[in-house]
Amino acid sequence: MSKVRFGVIGAGHIGKRHAEMVIRHDEAELIAICEPRSREECGVTWDVPFYASTEELLANHPELDVVSICTPNGLHAQLALLALNAKKHVIIEKPMALSKADCERIIYASLNVSRQVFAVMQNRYSPPSEWIKEVVDSGILGSIYMVQINCFWNRDDNYYGKIPWKGDLALDGGTLFTQFSHFVDIMYWLFGDIDNIQARFRDFRHQHNTEFEDSGFISFDFVNGGMGSISFSTAVDRKNYESSMTIVAEKGTVKIGGQYMNEVEYVDIRDYEMPVLKESNPANDYGHYKGSAANHGYVIENVIDTLAGRNQITTNALEGLKVVDIIERIYSCSDRALKQRNKTAVQ
Ligand SMILES: NC(=O)c1ccc[n+]([C@@H]2O[C@H](COP(=O)([O-])OP(=O)(O)OC[C@H]3O[C@@H](n4cnc5c(N)ncnc54)[C@H](O)[C@@H]3O)[C@@H](O)[C@H]2O)c1
Repeated sequence: MSKVRFGVIGAGHIGKRHAEMVIRHDEAELIAICEPRSREECGVTWDVPFYASTEELLANHPELDVVSICTPNGLHAQLALLALNAKKHVIIEKPMALSKADCERIIYASLNVSRQVFAVMQNRYSPPSEWIKEVVDSGILGSIYMVQINCFWNRDDNYYGKIPWKGDLALDGGTLFTQFSHFVDIMYWLFGDIDNIQARFRDFRHQHNTEFEDSGFISFDFVNGGMGSISFSTAVDRKNYESSMTIVAEKGTVKIGGQYMNEVEYVDIRDYEMPVLKESNPANDYGHYKGSAANHGYVIENVIDTLAGRNQITTNALEGLKVVDIIERIYSCSDRALKQRNKTAVQ
């Protein structure tokens, strides 16, 4: 059987992880990388062709099957469209894009060329996520009353100083897109869509290095019943502490916590015995900061298995779109957009 041929666009922290996972997989081959910085600057040691633009990469490698988009968030849509129009399957790092309209453009293009879009939400592979998905889908919790999500992380001057696009509204989009979209994804995956959103934001620590808030309280209703809230901050002093989800339901109560929802803290469900879960993978460690679960091997495996007809896409394009849609609606129901417009007008 021929190997699935991958190209990677963007060789930063996560692009190198995609490349590494492709190299490690027996049924995959890394064909080329696109990255405007030099090999030395981004620390790429693999002996594969290196291009400064996506157009060049696509023109030189018609044999590519799949292209991973691992660039700053604000470039995902335009680069995914280039790759789809060249008839490649695309893996798009989270978030799929920074607007629902851009996600729709991606889905439209993929349908036109009959190619797949794989959204990356690798926290779904963490054992507590797989477990709670089964619990919720089985119905043993009964009606869902309340879901509370807390995300309390640290992102300091070192972080914003080292990664140029982080903090830029057009390229980054905000903390819900860049830091916490995994947890919006898990919430949507488990409980579905939300409405009646209310949100308050504050920027406690990052006025000098970001164009948006670092903290917020959000409340909403689930379309399927029950209500929810998200409290988030990247203004925590010194380190990441928590990404947790507490579920209060008719027949049980569950809390999943840890730094990135990687530990079950308590479970009390009627007539239910908790199974022993596998160990979670550690968080991605980027040296000066830590991120979400190091599960990218499963993402590449899912692409290969899906293209071979052995599996289905773990996070499909519509789910990628819904996460973006939810975050976009959260931001647009607050005074964030207005403040941003006023700020731009004054400058
Ligand atoms: N799934 C996860 O847990 C996870 C974790 C970290 C980052 N990400 C996502 O991955 C993406 C990249 O994040 P990162 O932390 O690797 O950032 P990064 O800054 O380390 O890497 C981005 C790379 O893209 C390159 N780039 C910029 N413009 C480009 C272009 N036009 N064409 C090709 N390359 C270009 C940059 O030079 C840089 O090397 C973001 O969308 C981010 O949200 C996902």
